[in-house]
Amino acid sequence: MTETGRLLIVHGPNLNLLGTREPGIYGTQSLEDINELCRTTAAARGFAVDTVQSNHEGQLVDTIQAAHGTAEGIVINPAAYTHTSVAIADALAAVNLPVVEVHLSNVHARESFRHHSYVSPHASAVIAGAGVAGYRFAVEHLAALLRS
Ligand code: DQA
Repeated sequence: MTETGRLLIVHGPNLNLLGTREPGIYGTQSLEDINELCRTTAAARGFAVDTVQSNHEGQLVDTIQAAHGTAEGIVINPAAYTHTSVAIADALAAVNLPVVEVHLSNVHARESFRHHSYVSPHASAVIAGAGVAGYRFAVEHLAALLRS
């Protein structure tokens, strides 16, 4: 299918270590495996993806700001910044694009500091606990939302 739109996939801190990082919680697939899943899922629905991972909050803010005018929607796993970052939440509000928040693990079944998300109020959907498949669901949802 011809790709007619772009989605931005944003990965927060420590997700570059996926595959070896706490595999009992986050699984054994790498970030590149996840990016490939996003690419193929998006391509089948007519979207290209840009993928960005950073361990730095300001870099993530810059990336989200740059999505304005270049992407139609954002899939984001803000990782630990989910629970701490007003700056990332403000950037998402500022660009005013549809957002799907993804977590590999079920954050609500973990420590209480993981139960609150600054990002969720800016998200059309939140997917937690579905592992890598959560990214597929996120891309499918975003594509459907954008083309409905
Ligand atoms: C995570 C959950 C966060 O609490 C944690 O800090 C992460 C990953 C997840 O995908 O399950 O780094 O966002």
